[in-house]
Amino acid sequence: MTVSLIIYSSTDGHTKTICERIINFSNDGNIVKILSLDEASNINLSEFNKIIIGASIRYGKHSKKLYNFIEENKIMLDQKESSFFSVNVVARKSGKNNPETNPYIKKFLKISKWTPKKIAVFAGKVDYPRYGFFDKYIIKLIMFITKGPTDTSQSFEFTDWSKVDEFAKKLWSNS
Ligand SMILES: Cc1cc2nc3c(=O)[nH]c(=O)nc-3n(C[C@H](O)[C@H](O)[C@H](O)COP(=O)(O)O)c2cc1C
Repeated sequence: MTVSLIIYSSTDGHTKTICERIINFSNDGNIVKILSLDEASNINLSEFNKIIIGASIRYGKHSKKLYNFIEENKIMLDQKESSFFSVNVVARKSGKNNPETNPYIKKFLKISKWTPKKIAVFAGKVDYPRYGFFDKYIIKLIMFITKGPTDTSQSFEFTDWSKVDEFAKKLWSNS
Protein backbone atom coordinates (compact mmCIF):
# COMPACT_ATOMS: atom_id res chain seq x y z
CA MET A 1 0.00 0.00 0.00
CA THR A 2 1.24 3.50 -0.81
CA VAL A 3 0.27 6.77 0.81
CA SER A 4 0.27 9.73 -1.57
CA LEU A 5 -0.12 13.46 -1.19
CA ILE A 6 -1.49 15.78 -3.85
CA ILE A 7 -0.92 19.49 -3.28
CA TYR A 8 -2.65 22.14 -5.37
CA SER A 9 -1.71 25.77 -5.85
CA SER A 10 -4.86 27.27 -7.37
CA THR A 11 -6.63 30.62 -7.46
CA ASP A 12 -9.91 29.80 -9.20
CA GLY A 13 -10.16 26.06 -8.45
CA HIS A 14 -9.40 24.50 -11.83
CA THR A 15 -6.09 22.98 -10.71
CA LYS A 16 -7.90 21.42 -7.75
CA THR A 17 -10.47 19.92 -10.16
CA ILE A 18 -7.62 18.38 -12.17
CA CYS A 19 -6.13 16.95 -8.95
CA GLU A 20 -9.49 15.39 -8.07
CA ARG A 21 -9.67 13.80 -11.51
CA ILE A 22 -6.17 12.36 -11.00
CA ILE A 23 -7.25 10.82 -7.68
CA ASN A 24 -10.04 8.93 -9.48
CA PHE A 25 -7.36 6.88 -11.25
CA SER A 26 -5.50 5.79 -8.11
CA ASN A 27 -5.38 2.08 -7.37
CA ASP A 28 -7.41 0.36 -4.68
CA GLY A 29 -5.50 0.34 -1.44
CA ASN A 30 -3.60 3.48 -2.34
CA ILE A 31 -4.41 6.17 0.21
CA VAL A 32 -4.43 9.65 -1.33
CA LYS A 33 -4.59 12.87 0.64
CA ILE A 34 -5.30 16.18 -1.13
CA LEU A 35 -4.31 19.53 0.39
CA SER A 36 -4.03 23.13 -0.73
CA LEU A 37 -0.55 24.61 -0.67
CA ASP A 38 -1.47 26.56 2.48
CA GLU A 39 -2.77 23.44 4.21
CA ALA A 40 0.39 21.55 3.25
CA SER A 41 2.76 24.13 4.69
CA ASN A 42 3.13 22.35 8.04
CA ILE A 43 2.79 18.78 6.88
CA ASN A 44 5.51 16.18 7.36
CA LEU A 45 6.28 14.96 3.84
CA SER A 46 8.23 11.96 5.11
CA GLU A 47 4.88 10.20 5.76
CA PHE A 48 4.16 9.95 2.03
CA ASN A 49 5.49 7.64 -0.70
CA LYS A 50 4.39 9.82 -3.62
CA ILE A 51 4.03 13.59 -3.73
CA ILE A 52 2.30 15.34 -6.63
CA ILE A 53 2.14 19.10 -6.93
CA GLY A 54 -0.17 20.90 -9.37
CA ALA A 55 0.01 24.66 -9.79
CA SER A 56 -1.62 27.28 -11.99
CA ILE A 57 -0.15 30.35 -13.65
CA ARG A 58 -1.31 33.86 -12.93
CA TYR A 59 0.17 36.83 -14.74
CA GLY A 60 3.10 34.83 -16.07
CA LYS A 61 4.09 33.17 -12.80
CA HIS A 62 3.60 30.26 -10.48
CA SER A 63 2.99 31.58 -6.97
CA LYS A 64 5.82 32.73 -4.74
CA LYS A 65 4.40 30.45 -2.02
CA LEU A 66 4.95 27.48 -4.32
CA TYR A 67 8.62 28.30 -4.79
CA ASN A 68 9.01 28.80 -1.02
CA PHE A 69 7.37 25.44 -0.35
CA ILE A 70 9.67 23.66 -2.79
CA GLU A 71 12.75 25.35 -1.36
CA GLU A 72 11.77 24.35 2.18
CA ASN A 73 11.00 20.74 1.18
CA LYS A 74 13.59 20.22 -1.55
CA ILE A 75 15.48 17.38 0.16
CA MET A 76 12.30 15.41 0.85
CA LEU A 77 10.92 16.02 -2.65
CA ASP A 78 14.16 14.72 -4.17
CA GLN A 79 14.03 11.59 -2.01
CA LYS A 80 10.39 10.78 -2.80
CA GLU A 81 8.65 9.83 -6.01
CA SER A 82 7.61 13.40 -6.69
CA SER A 83 5.79 14.80 -9.71
CA PHE A 84 4.65 18.20 -10.94
CA PHE A 85 2.12 19.66 -13.36
CA SER A 86 1.35 23.21 -14.39
CA VAL A 87 -1.98 24.63 -15.54
CA ASN A 88 -2.02 27.63 -17.87
CA VAL A 89 -3.83 28.82 -20.97
CA VAL A 90 -0.71 29.18 -23.10
CA ALA A 91 -0.74 25.34 -23.09
CA ARG A 92 -3.86 25.38 -25.29
CA LYS A 93 -1.54 26.18 -28.19
CA SER A 94 0.17 23.37 -30.08
CA GLY A 95 3.90 23.96 -29.76
CA LYS A 96 3.46 25.06 -26.12
CA ASN A 97 1.50 22.11 -24.81
CA ASN A 98 4.14 19.74 -23.50
CA PRO A 99 6.76 20.03 -20.73
CA GLU A 100 9.60 20.52 -23.23
CA THR A 101 7.89 23.39 -25.05
CA ASN A 102 5.77 25.14 -22.44
CA PRO A 103 7.55 28.33 -21.32
CA TYR A 104 6.17 28.20 -17.76
CA ILE A 105 7.42 24.64 -17.17
CA LYS A 106 10.86 25.57 -18.47
CA LYS A 107 10.98 28.63 -16.21
CA PHE A 108 9.65 26.67 -13.22
CA LEU A 109 12.29 23.92 -13.50
CA LYS A 110 15.04 26.51 -13.83
CA ILE A 111 13.97 28.61 -10.84
CA SER A 112 12.94 25.78 -8.51
CA LYS A 113 15.98 23.58 -9.28
CA TRP A 114 13.68 20.65 -8.51
CA THR A 115 13.63 17.70 -10.91
CA PRO A 116 10.23 16.03 -10.54
CA LYS A 117 10.17 12.42 -11.75
CA LYS A 118 7.05 13.00 -13.86
CA ILE A 119 6.05 16.34 -15.36
CA ALA A 120 2.99 17.49 -17.28
CA VAL A 121 1.34 20.68 -18.48
CA PHE A 122 -2.37 21.13 -19.03
CA ALA A 123 -4.37 23.88 -20.65
CA GLY A 124 -6.59 25.58 -18.08
CA LYS A 125 -9.80 27.52 -18.17
CA VAL A 126 -10.82 31.10 -18.88
CA ASP A 127 -13.78 31.76 -16.63
CA TYR A 128 -14.72 35.36 -17.50
CA PRO A 129 -17.93 35.61 -15.40
CA ARG A 130 -15.87 34.79 -12.31
CA TYR A 131 -13.28 37.50 -12.78
CA GLY A 132 -13.35 41.02 -11.38
CA PHE A 133 -13.30 44.01 -13.74
CA PHE A 134 -9.51 44.34 -14.00
CA ASP A 135 -8.72 40.64 -14.52
CA LYS A 136 -11.58 40.31 -17.02
CA TYR A 137 -10.25 43.21 -19.07
CA ILE A 138 -6.63 42.00 -19.04
CA ILE A 139 -7.52 38.38 -19.87
CA LYS A 140 -9.79 39.56 -22.68
CA LEU A 141 -6.91 41.62 -24.08
CA ILE A 142 -4.49 38.67 -23.83
CA MET A 143 -7.06 36.40 -25.48
CA PHE A 144 -7.59 38.94 -28.28
CA ILE A 145 -3.82 39.16 -28.90
CA THR A 146 -3.39 35.38 -28.82
CA LYS A 147 -6.50 34.70 -30.96
CA GLY A 148 -8.47 33.18 -28.07
CA PRO A 149 -12.15 33.67 -27.10
CA THR A 150 -13.18 37.17 -25.98
CA ASP A 151 -16.88 36.77 -25.09
CA THR A 152 -16.78 37.78 -21.41
CA SER A 153 -20.23 36.34 -20.72
CA GLN A 154 -18.85 32.80 -21.16
CA SER A 155 -16.41 30.28 -19.62
CA PHE A 156 -13.95 28.46 -21.86
CA GLU A 157 -12.33 25.23 -20.73
CA PHE A 158 -9.30 24.23 -22.78
CA THR A 159 -8.28 21.21 -20.71
CA ASP A 160 -7.67 18.02 -22.67
CA TRP A 161 -9.03 15.56 -20.11
CA SER A 162 -7.65 12.54 -21.98
CA LYS A 163 -4.19 14.01 -21.44
CA VAL A 164 -4.92 14.41 -17.72
CA ASP A 165 -6.11 10.80 -17.59
CA GLU A 166 -2.95 9.55 -19.32
CA PHE A 167 -0.78 11.43 -16.82
CA ALA A 168 -2.88 10.12 -13.92
CA LYS A 169 -2.36 6.53 -15.08
CA LYS A 170 1.40 7.10 -15.27
CA LEU A 171 1.42 8.63 -11.79
CA TRP A 172 -0.23 5.63 -10.22
CA SER A 173 1.70 3.01 -12.15
CA ASN A 174 4.81 1.66 -10.46
CA SER A 175 7.15 2.32 -13.38
C1 LIG B 1 -5.80 36.94 -13.47
C2 LIG B 1 -5.34 35.82 -14.33
C3 LIG B 1 -4.08 35.83 -14.91
C4 LIG B 1 -3.65 34.77 -15.73
N1 LIG B 1 -2.42 34.83 -16.30
C5 LIG B 1 -2.04 33.84 -17.14
C6 LIG B 1 -0.78 33.91 -17.81
O1 LIG B 1 -0.01 34.85 -17.65
N2 LIG B 1 -0.46 32.90 -18.65
C7 LIG B 1 -1.29 31.83 -18.88
O2 LIG B 1 -0.95 30.95 -19.67
N3 LIG B 1 -2.47 31.72 -18.22
C8 LIG B 1 -2.86 32.71 -17.37
N4 LIG B 1 -4.05 32.63 -16.73
C9 LIG B 1 -4.89 31.45 -16.96
C10 LIG B 1 -4.89 30.49 -15.78
O3 LIG B 1 -3.65 29.86 -15.64
C11 LIG B 1 -6.01 29.49 -15.98
O4 LIG B 1 -7.21 30.21 -15.90
C12 LIG B 1 -6.02 28.35 -15.00
O5 LIG B 1 -7.04 27.44 -15.39
C13 LIG B 1 -6.24 28.84 -13.59
O6 LIG B 1 -6.17 27.75 -12.71
P1 LIG B 1 -6.75 27.84 -11.22
O7 LIG B 1 -8.26 27.94 -11.35
O8 LIG B 1 -6.33 26.58 -10.59
O9 LIG B 1 -6.14 29.06 -10.58
C14 LIG B 1 -4.50 33.67 -15.93
C15 LIG B 1 -5.79 33.65 -15.33
C16 LIG B 1 -6.19 34.71 -14.54
C17 LIG B 1 -7.56 34.68 -13.93
